Amino acid sequence: MGRVVFIGAGPGAADLITVRGARLLGQADLVLSDALVDGSLRELAPQARWIEVGKRGFRGGVTQETINALLRRYGCAHTLVVRLKGGDSSIFGRLEEELRAVAAAGLCAEVVPGVTAASAAAADTRRPLTRRGSGRSVSLTTAMTREGALHAGRSADTEVFYMAGRQLASLSRKLIASGWPSIAPVSVVSRAGCADSLQSEHLLADLGQAAMLHMNRPTVVIVGAGATNVGCTHAVARQSAVSEGAKHHESLLESD
Ligand SMILES: C[S@@+](CC[C@H](N)C(=O)[O-])C[C@H]1O[C@@H](n2cnc3c(N)ncnc32)[C@H](O)[C@@H]1O
Repeated sequence: MGRVVFIGAGPGAADLITVRGARLLGQADLVLSDALVDGSLRELAPQARWIEVGKRGFRGGVTQETINALLRRYGCAHTLVVRLKGGDSSIFGRLEEELRAVAAAGLCAEVVPGVTAASAAAADTRRPLTRRGSGRSVSLTTAMTREGALHAGRSADTEVFYMAGRQLASLSRKLIASGWPSIAPVSVVSRAGCADSLQSEHLLADLGQAAMLHMNRPTVVIVGAGATNVGCTHAVARQSAVSEGAKHHESLLESD
């Protein structure tokens, strides 16, 4: 019987895939891969046939129904099909629909976890998502809804927003309206985990200023405890930008 393995490829840099994921990729007959997956991962599975099934937001590309049909068709025809997804398949990856499609075809499924964009962003900024005492909860939220409306509120000490890159100014307004202080710290990270990762720091009221810097790049927005400086700014090795407002606020905190 055919087997379908869902592998989280990590946030875009080939070396952030897990060892287990790389090993199974090396055994695949066929790989159905997402658009945000690093092309050099193909070197781990030169024996396999690769088919790109990327979806880009709600702008078309390959539909979910087509992907489900391909999983059923190729899963029945091959010994090992890998469904390679960006980040972690369990986070905003439509994994439940694909698992149902595979089960309906009577195929075995296995899920290999991956590094999600929020974890890669926390690593790049050296700002942990949880903090002893002040950061006891983390929420991962998609800014994109089927209806197109932006939903954002206050539900955790650290809020991480996925798919919000094009709506930073309205995200800022919604969060302030839902009770976040306008001076809450925010980190914006695009292409987290990759060699060209970009990070910027803002006050929540100034979040719209990040739009130009991160334009057309996969971006996460971290608000609250997980965006607070831990006091080792010299450790930030990659490109980063700090808005004037955030600099002023951090200097006030340091002088407390
Ligand atoms: C459909 S979601 C998939 C999330 C993925 N499953 C994960 O666990 O990271 C796509 C969104 O993830 C975020 N994302 C993916 N890769 C990223 C990266 N390298 N840096 C920052 N954000 C990223 C962006 O918000 C992007 O719009």
